[in-house]
Amino acid sequence: MGFRASQEGLEIVDKARKQKGWTKTQTPIWWQTAYASRATLRRFWERKRPIKPEYFIAICNAVGVNWEEIVDKNSLLYHQTHQMSRQDLGDAPEAYDFYGRKEELSLLEQWIVKENCRLVALCGIGGIGKTYLAAELVNNIRNQVDYLFWRSLRSSPPLEDILATMLRFLSPEWEADAAQGLSQNISQLMGCLRNHRCLIVLDDFDAVLQNGDRTVSYLPGYEGYGELLKRWTETSTKSCLLLLSREKPREIAFKERKNSPVRSYKLTGLQLSEAEEILKDKELLRDGNAWEDLIRIYRGHPLALQIVSTIIHESFNGSVTTFLEEKTIILGDISILLSQQFKRLSSLEKEIMYWLALQQQPISILQLQLYVKSQITSSVLLEVLTSLGWRSLIEKTAEDNEVMFTLQPMVMKFTISEFVNQICSEISQGQIKLLKSHALVTEYHLSEQKTEFPYRPILPMIKNKLLGLLTDKNTAIERLRTLQSTIRENQDKGYSENNILNLLAQFNESSQ
Ligand SMILES: Nc1ncnc2c1ncn2[C@@H]1O[C@H](COP(=O)(O)OP(=O)(O)O)[C@@H](O)[C@H]1O
Ligand SMILES: [Mg+2]
Repeated sequence: MGFRASQEGLEIVDKARKQKGWTKTQTPIWWQTAYASRATLRRFWERKRPIKPEYFIAICNAVGVNWEEIVDKNSLLYHQTHQMSRQDLGDAPEAYDFYGRKEELSLLEQWIVKENCRLVALCGIGGIGKTYLAAELVNNIRNQVDYLFWRSLRSSPPLEDILATMLRFLSPEWEADAAQGLSQNISQLMGCLRNHRCLIVLDDFDAVLQNGDRTVSYLPGYEGYGELLKRWTETSTKSCLLLLSREKPREIAFKERKNSPVRSYKLTGLQLSEAEEILKDKELLRDGNAWEDLIRIYRGHPLALQIVSTIIHESFNGSVTTFLEEKTIILGDISILLSQQFKRLSSLEKEIMYWLALQQQPISILQLQLYVKSQITSSVLLEVLTSLGWRSLIEKTAEDNEVMFTLQPMVMKFTISEFVNQICSEISQGQIKLLKSHALVTEYHLSEQKTEFPYRPILPMIKNKLLGLLTDKNTAIERLRTLQSTIRENQDKGYSENNILNLLAQFNESSQ
């Protein structure tokens, strides 16, 4: 919990700032001395939400006011009593500059508090705001549950450890018994939960999951988590387990239905007006539709918007329009999240992602199936597309009554560069996997473009990367020619022959 000023307290601050000749929120030295942001100072004045105690104190010190005199004693008391109440929030963050998500908050509250759902999974791509949303939710409903427990599974802790911590928290007299197996411990936990109303949050649940071809299962040694979910869905309880995960565990996929106590929610980007708050915080210039365009390109992804607005603030003098004119997408740390997510994909999923990236525009299932040379039925393809959709990696649009699929701009940029790296490393090692499975140029590229960004031709990118890997043009050409003669003898050439011809042409070489 944070601090907030009392109404009378604010009057004291108001006097003090006038004496200094400072404005309420427009005197940079104030928030700078407090190592806070202008937005935090604004929130200090608004009093709607508590702010971090250290900022609160620093803001008071900067203007020469004793914070203890002006703090709202109720918020302080609340803070202290709640420290002692029955909650173990582990590494739950405080969502300080939290915006929007009103619909999601009320829906989740409805599910957890009013409808007594047992198991709720909040899923979505990394950085979309799952942890933040859950932290805000926990904050809102903390008085409506008896126990609150939050752990992140980021470091993949064994279930035994998590269970022991939970049991000790729920019944302090509990002692670990080596003779007791996992299953008995789970029963004991379910027993404790029956008597209380608990909200247990397990964040980063994907850290114990692994993604195989078409199924999400558990990492070896972590199957116990599956057993826990299964028992939880089958036992009648007043308590709720809230999972935050990039992937949906299968125990949930099997059981969820409209009125079932097991549900999942896929979190997508912030709405326009909510995302605008982030740009406002960074004091970006608002002209024309620039904000709207920026938010749309990043699909309201809060972390991406924060990264990109910091860059616009620092390198583009806050002008969103100038930044947009560059027609580039900045990924920053988002690429780390995307690469984690990408690594988890099955080979079939990666194959499809690469096809969508190579097209750079929406494509229908039928077209996709024509391209993919491995024998997959349209129902398997649909399954793969659905599962990629669940991970927020692909987008579905409808054009002339036909469903089309593509990657959202951030994911597109990332996947193209992933493809270029992969194919170049294969070529430099004399392998012909991607060369065979994916066409670098298709007639589709020549058709009308419907993308938000200009088509980025893939051949020059591969050429440049190869030049970097193989040091000079002649070595690159030689490598391609060697591959060409290997391929000649192959029965199953896939797209490799054409691809090599296109690449050689890119190096300005005639190809015999
Ligand atoms: N509703 C929101 N309002 C403001 N900032 C947000 C919001 N949701 C997320 N963020 C920002 O995005 C970052 C990533 O969110 P987080 O909840 O950690 O994502 P996830 O858990 O889905 O990976 C947060 O640290 C926060 O700065
Ligand atoms: Mg998180």
